[in-house]
Amino acid sequence: MFCVGGNMRVGVIGCGYWGSKHVRLLSSLPSVDLVVAVDEQLDRVTELHRQYPGLLPVATIDEALDFVDAAIIATPPRTHAPIAAKLLEAGKHVLVEKPFATTTEEADHLITLADERGLVLMAGHTFEYNTAVHYLRGLVQSGDLGRIYYIDTARLNLGLYQPDVNVVWDLAPHDISILNYVLDSEPTMVSAWGAKHAGSDFEDVAYIRLEYGHVGTAAQVHVSWLDPCKVRRVTVVGSQRMAVYNDLSANEAIRIYDKGVQRPAEPVGNAPISYRHGDISMPHINLTEPLGMEDAHFIDCITKGTPCLTDGRTGRAVVKVLEAAAESLATGRPVYLSTQIPAPAMHPIIVDRESTTTTAT
Ligand SMILES: NC(=O)c1ccc[n+]([C@@H]2O[C@H](COP(=O)([O-])OP(=O)(O)OC[C@H]3O[C@@H](n4cnc5c(N)ncnc54)[C@H](O)[C@@H]3O)[C@@H](O)[C@H]2O)c1
Repeated sequence: MFCVGGNMRVGVIGCGYWGSKHVRLLSSLPSVDLVVAVDEQLDRVTELHRQYPGLLPVATIDEALDFVDAAIIATPPRTHAPIAAKLLEAGKHVLVEKPFATTTEEADHLITLADERGLVLMAGHTFEYNTAVHYLRGLVQSGDLGRIYYIDTARLNLGLYQPDVNVVWDLAPHDISILNYVLDSEPTMVSAWGAKHAGSDFEDVAYIRLEYGHVGTAAQVHVSWLDPCKVRRVTVVGSQRMAVYNDLSANEAIRIYDKGVQRPAEPVGNAPISYRHGDISMPHINLTEPLGMEDAHFIDCITKGTPCLTDGRTGRAVVKVLEAAAESLATGRPVYLSTQIPAPAMHPIIVDRESTTTTAT
């Protein structure tokens, strides 16, 4: 690995809507010496060069190879794995945007390439770098909500139709990564329904049911590019309390509802169900830009040789669920996944409940 003055030179492959955000954030990181912006649409990188004069703009990956130690891939989903393989084979550390790959076979190939070469391979699961999601995980893992009955997620909008994948591959990676992270587990069953409207070749609305058999709960994921309201919500319903994470609310990202329903321990005749309507609390959460945390973590993992929170295996776990959802959409049948209990996370995020700051161990 070659680093100028110990610092990193990082390429961003694909500088459209999302890649240009990586360019902005990398340009502000003191540990990054040089950002190389790569896009086959040259006007995109020349425009970025105007905004960030220190940046090197090029049109192809081949032109960038000699100038980078690491790269972030933000091209359309079906190009992720081939581009990542090319970069890993050239000895570069790689962060791949979601979805990490479009098959588990591709994901396995990338993991093998990185392992053989001792390179960092990271999945761009941005929500796992979001302090509100860290807080939600803390609520679930500490048992504060009681037994988790179910989780419901909704990611809806009049969304941008993608040219190469359906709404499941575009939006559900976020929800699956949040669910796996918050529950510290992986689904054992996936069942999906979806439909195509608006002349789309791909499903633009879908509902996915996930059973998390290892932790005795289930989740429902609703994703849509065809909904009148923008919604980014995760609802966790527990036996003691309930929590709602609303990604669109800056001040009240997490609301905890002291609400519940209880049956008498020993029902006598028509003894009524009792409803509890308690307080609603909104913990203060220091929101930082998750993508900035993600990019800084990627650079840290390379320079310090520490493991990634969202490594290639985490990326593969999400791809496995997406692949199962695609199979279920095609066959109309549920897909049962390996029942092997996943290994605990290598360095879980610990939530300091007093100050709501988070640290990775
Ligand atoms: N983590 C998140 O929250 C998040 C949010 C949005 C998008 N994304 C992901 O980022 C990726 C890009 O999405 P987008 O909305 O920015 O798309 P986009 O269409 O705006 O940008 C993609 C860019 O890649 C370029 N490109 C394609 N093939 C290339 C190649 N071989 N070499 C160089 N450049 C190439 C295109 O010219 C284009 O400029 C997608 O995988 C998407 O899922 C992630």
